[in-house]
Amino acid sequence: MRLQSAGCVFALEEAEHLLRAADSPDEAEALLQRRLSGEPLEYVLGWAEFLGRRVRVVPGVFIPRRRTEFLASAALESASRWEHPVILDLCCGSGALSTVFAGAFPEAELHAADLSSEAVAAARLNLGERAEIHQGDLFAALPFRLRGSIDVVAANAPYVPTDQLPFLPREARIHEPAQALDGGREGLELLRRIAADAPAWLSSGGELLVECSEGQAPGLQADFRASGFQALVRTDAETGTAVVTGVLR
Ligand SMILES: C[S@@+](CC[C@H](N)C(=O)[O-])C[C@H]1O[C@@H](n2cnc3c(N)ncnc32)[C@H](O)[C@@H]1O
Repeated sequence: MRLQSAGCVFALEEAEHLLRAADSPDEAEALLQRRLSGEPLEYVLGWAEFLGRRVRVVPGVFIPRRRTEFLASAALESASRWEHPVILDLCCGSGALSTVFAGAFPEAELHAADLSSEAVAAARLNLGERAEIHQGDLFAALPFRLRGSIDVVAANAPYVPTDQLPFLPREARIHEPAQALDGGREGLELLRRIAADAPAWLSSGGELLVECSEGQAPGLQADFRASGFQALVRTDAETGTAVVTGVLR
């Protein structure tokens, strides 16, 4: 009832999750108060659902979105072309994409990288020893030995244009780090850098897959081509999300 009054659309479902997460009525009340104060449900529960898995999330780290399951599925399809793929989850946040890769490809060599120390810590929580986790600015985070050897790079990098940040839902604006959302002018600054730098790190025939909005996809496809990729755009009409895939030939 209190969640409903506070404007939670899925109040009943949320209440059930909060009750299940609490060990006592006092704890349930504390969790409820956090939610009523506007904290995202996933931070309060400590997990988010992603492609049928529970990914641990902590405040200060981007909450994986269901729309990114489209990128995850496309990357799974790409990685299935290799027997023992080397996969990089670039801008990994909590490592949601990597948890999917780890489940699907027990034989894969997994790497995940992020600039944020909080994200790197969360990815370690989710992936343990299953992936090598690197901290730094895009590909500069990686050891030199990986150059020319990565079969699939999947990146859900920030792509919200800076001038659109004030219009994001309150929960994202207030509770998630701006660094996880802000894609600079047009939202494409990081994605363009990724497209330019990826060829040096990919194996022959390797693939780069990035998430963006439907509207950003044609421009980004042109950037991929300029970097030497054969580029393909797939869109998910339900979420307005696009995945640009570049294959290195
Ligand atoms: C939109 S979030 C996506 C996180 C994760 N891939 C997911 O889908 O849940 C973008 C992530 O990019 C990271 N990031 C921002 N700038 C970066 C940079 N220059 N190098 C590496 N990571 C960066 C942020 O810290 C954040 O974790």
